[in-house]
Amino acid sequence: MEQGLDREWVARKLNIGREFVYLTQEQVKASGLTDGDILDLTEKALVAHGKKHVEMPAKIGLHPLKDTLMHAMPAYLPDSGACGIKWASCFPANRDRFGLLQTSGLLIFNDAESGWPLAVMDAIWITEKRTPAVTCVAAKHMAPADAATFGMLGCGVQGRAHVGMIERVLTRLETIFVHDVYEPAMDRLVEELQPKVKARIVKAKSYEELVKNSRVVASATAITSKPEPKIRDGWILAGQTLLMCDMHSLYEDITMKRADKYFLDSIEEHELFEGYGYYPDGLPRICGETGEVAAGLKKGRENAGELIACNNVGMAVEDMMVARAVFVRALEAGTGTRLPL
Ligand SMILES: NC(=O)c1ccc[n+]([C@@H]2O[C@H](COP(=O)([O-])OP(=O)(O)OC[C@H]3O[C@@H](n4cnc5c(N)ncnc54)[C@H](O)[C@@H]3O)[C@@H](O)[C@H]2O)c1
Repeated sequence: MEQGLDREWVARKLNIGREFVYLTQEQVKASGLTDGDILDLTEKALVAHGKKHVEMPAKIGLHPLKDTLMHAMPAYLPDSGACGIKWASCFPANRDRFGLLQTSGLLIFNDAESGWPLAVMDAIWITEKRTPAVTCVAAKHMAPADAATFGMLGCGVQGRAHVGMIERVLTRLETIFVHDVYEPAMDRLVEELQPKVKARIVKAKSYEELVKNSRVVASATAITSKPEPKIRDGWILAGQTLLMCDMHSLYEDITMKRADKYFLDSIEEHELFEGYGYYPDGLPRICGETGEVAAGLKKGRENAGELIACNNVGMAVEDMMVARAVFVRALEAGTGTRLPL
């Protein structure tokens, strides 16, 4: 079990109720948390969620433009004393319109004893890292351990982070196929990641080439308010594992509905999204939550022939577990700017 946050230790470092620490993205990164640390923290958060040992209401959101979202993501994990809220946005047109990343966010980390804010930190790096960590935890339980091929749809921030982390759980990968509608994103991924991964990275010319050649397929493209299927159901093979962080945007509804097992990270959240209209044909029959599988309460892959789909839209418990570790390390190192309340 994670240790609770030692409030007396925090109070010796920070005048709680009078000031908070502000951490820039560089200072968050300087916490020195490794991919292994993030994977470990994310798995703990998922297990706690699976055991229902967290408080995490479904994220409410704003949708200022078509296909955009801004989410309020609060969470409290009693065992670790991780408590706070992330305010995150995904605006897919940002690259073309403003030369900005599509995903941004700020996180407020709170004292669970008094409620006062302890830190405000950039959440872009935390989101970048904990999202592929969720995919990795899902892959550990749902993908065949001997998978030699992995496909990554979307080669942006998440695509690169996924390719950088996936070999931690799929240790026998020989080939990683990547595909993106934007050629420079594929080139950047190959240039940055090929020196860091053992498997050979291959640019797939089409969705079809990627999907037909990858035993495990992950997607991180754009969440569209209505699905825009690009992947034909006929290309999907028995035994494949489909891991999504962009909802069902790229898949035909029939694929999700005919999967032998369909998991998602939070039933409550996805039902809320269904209410917003994101699943116009309705959610498939749900076998359980990713955290329940991580906690061993539900079975992931049971045989090589199962088609398994897992839809993770991202949960605040993951952010808060990582933010807690960032906060503790920042206090230890004395990094960040103290700002008066
Ligand atoms: N589930 C989560 O927890 C979570 C967290 C962060 C981001 N996301 C989602 O992940 C996705 C990617 O986020 P990011 O920060 O990496 O964005 P990004 O803009 O850095 O990368 C997205 C990439 O996908 C490509 N793309 C867009 N539509 C495509 C399509 N139809 N087919 C192939 N490629 C396509 C773009 O060209 C771009 O290179 C977004 O949908 C975002 O909402 C999910």
